[in-house]
Amino acid sequence: MKTRTQTEFERNIRQGLSDHPKHLHSKFIYNKEGDALFQQIMQLPEYYLTRAEFDILEQNKTEICQHFYAKDGFDLIELGAGDGQKTKLILQELVDKKMAFNYLPIDISQNVLYDLKKNIEKEIPEVPVQCQQGSYFDVLKDLANYNKRKKVIIVLGSNIGNLLHDEAIDFLQQIQQSMGEFDMLFMGFDQKKHPQKIVNAYNDGQGVTEAFNKNLLKRINNEFDANFNLDDFMHWESYDPETGTARSFLISKKDQQVSIEQLDMKVEFHKWETIHTEISQKYDDHVVNWLAERSDLKIDTHFTDSEERYKNYVFKTS
Ligand SMILES: C[S@@+](CC[C@H](N)C(=O)[O-])C[C@H]1O[C@@H](n2cnc3c(N)ncnc32)[C@H](O)[C@@H]1O
Repeated sequence: MKTRTQTEFERNIRQGLSDHPKHLHSKFIYNKEGDALFQQIMQLPEYYLTRAEFDILEQNKTEICQHFYAKDGFDLIELGAGDGQKTKLILQELVDKKMAFNYLPIDISQNVLYDLKKNIEKEIPEVPVQCQQGSYFDVLKDLANYNKRKKVIIVLGSNIGNLLHDEAIDFLQQIQQSMGEFDMLFMGFDQKKHPQKIVNAYNDGQGVTEAFNKNLLKRINNEFDANFNLDDFMHWESYDPETGTARSFLISKKDQQVSIEQLDMKVEFHKWETIHTEISQKYDDHVVNWLAERSDLKIDTHFTDSEERYKNYVFKTS
């Protein structure tokens, strides 16, 4: 039987490859291979986001954890946790400060959650971990059930940047609706900066980001019996400094037809036709304030790195 994620992926392929212009959702990049590629991306010299957020967490972990603290303990819920490399800094600090908490990572990739749990049990065995697989909007509904004690919701890696502003507001509103008076949201937002730095972050010289985006086509080949030739597509990155939106595309290098046997689909591509695969929105305080206002959240404080490349904001319900 198909999982909920596979059914959603199937719907996205049918719709996205029939639309004009064509599109596929970036959340489906993440399977075992996509997770491994993203872990390589985080090590790339061009991909400053992970290092910037790591520095912020390392330098401010004591103060950040004081914000998390609650006398009766708390539930630490992480949306889109990935491999949790940066979260482990926080988890270790919470353990060192003897705070009582449960860690509940949520991610669309079952593979990454399996590795994360194994890893934490080995490295910080004091942390009780309970994973949940699913996409944000599926699991957000259940968040309100965690209401026995303080809830701390964290979203790192500028995951929110994969959502268009309307979707981001919907996401923040749903989080806000699940929050009680003393709950908090701790979220990372990559900041606007020199456009070249942003383009380079998604256009590395080694082709890892290209392989990451092409993993969508590879998954369709493997899971739906399709015949995409990955070499017939190229990766392209663009950044619009006016809107702060970085966009990733796969572009067909020739006229071609692709069959997706299991979906009984034939997809025509013209030479230079695009498939939009990902957005990575960039922010400033003005935009984050606007998103917060639209979602009935208020910014309590924020933390940043010395170059202000990246910011982590603490939100409360207003
Ligand atoms: C850019 S990575 C960041 C991972 C981690 N937060 C970090 O900072 O290193 C995005 C993570 O969110 C997950 N993800 C992406 N879209 C998702 C969605 N719609 N619902 C749930 N998880 C999602 C991916 O599987 C991946 O692990």
